Amino acid sequence: MPSPAISAPLPWKTAWVVGASHGIGRAVALRLASAGVTVAASARDEAALAGLSAQAEGGIVAYPLDVTDPDGVEATVAAIETDLGAIDLAVLSAGVWDPFSIDDIDIAAFRSGIEVNYLGTVNAVAALVPRMRGQGRGQIAVVSSVAGYFGLPRSAAYGPTKAALINLAECLRTELDGTGVTVSLVNPGFVKTRLTAKNDFPMPFLMTPEAAADRMVRGLVSGRFEVAFPLRFVLILKTLGLLPYPLFFWIIRKFVSRK
Ligand SMILES: NC(=O)c1ccc[n+]([C@@H]2O[C@H](COP(=O)([O-])OP(=O)(O)OC[C@H]3O[C@@H](n4cnc5c(N)ncnc54)[C@H](OP(=O)(O)O)[C@@H]3O)[C@@H](O)[C@H]2O)c1
Repeated sequence: MPSPAISAPLPWKTAWVVGASHGIGRAVALRLASAGVTVAASARDEAALAGLSAQAEGGIVAYPLDVTDPDGVEATVAAIETDLGAIDLAVLSAGVWDPFSIDDIDIAAFRSGIEVNYLGTVNAVAALVPRMRGQGRGQIAVVSSVAGYFGLPRSAAYGPTKAALINLAECLRTELDGTGVTVSLVNPGFVKTRLTAKNDFPMPFLMTPEAAADRMVRGLVSGRFEVAFPLRFVLILKTLGLLPYPLFFWIIRKFVSRK
C-alpha cells in the first residue's frame, strides 16, 4: 500500500528525536520541524544540537543526553513534557557501529553496542511507555537496521544489537496493542552518514540521510509496523533470510566481504 503523501499535515504536534546531532536522526528532526512539528532533539554533542536548533529557527529544541544513563533519560523526558507538552512521536535513533574483526576481538565494542543501541533504546522506552499509556496515545519508532535480519561478517558487535531491537519492537507492538500507543520498527539499508563512513566495502543502494528521513516519516505516518527501505534491498535481504542455511552461507561467502 502506498504511504500517505508527505505534503499532508503530519499527525504529531511534538516529537522527540534521540540521536539527532548527526546522520539519520538529524535529517528526521529537520524533516519533522519543516512540517511544523515541534522537535526535542537529543544526543551527546551539544554543539551539534545547538547548530541544529539554530538551523531550524526555534522549531527544534536541544536536550543534550547520553542514552546510556537511565536517570538522565527519565529527567530529559520529564523536562520535554514540561517545556513542550506530551510527546506524540519518539524516534529512537541513537546508535554506534564498530566493524568487528575476528583477529582483534574488542569486548568494549560489544559492550557499547549493547549499552547504546539496545539498552539506550530500552531506557527511552521505559521513560516513554508509562507517559504515553497515561495519555492514551503516542508512537515510538525503534530504529534498528536490515543488519538485524541475520548475522553478517564483521557485524558481530552490531548485528545482534539490531536483532534484539527488532525482537523488542515486536514484543512491544503486541503488548501495547489497544492502548493507543503504536510501536514502529525502522530498518534502514545503507545511509551515507559518519557511521557508514567507516565502511571500506561497496554499499548497495546507498542513500542520503534526507532520503532516508523522508521514507521514514512517510512510513511512520502510515502506522504500519515495519518501515524498511530501500524496498529492493529489503526484498533481497528478506528472501536471503528465508533460504536454507547451506544456500544462505554460500551466497554470503560469495558476495559479502569478510575483510
Ligand atoms: N547509516 C546507516 O547506513 C544505517 C543503516 C541502518 C541503521 N542505522 C541506524 O540508524 C541510527 C542512526 O545512525 P546514523 O547512520 O545516522 O549514525 P550517526 O550519523 O553516527 O548518528 C548516530 C547518532 O547517535 C547518537 N548517539 C551515539 N551514542 C549516543 C549516546 N550514548 N547517547 C546519545 N546519543 C548517542 C549520536 O550523537 P552523539 O555522538 O552526539 O551522542 C548521533 O546523533 C543508528 O541506530 C544506526 O544503527 C544506520
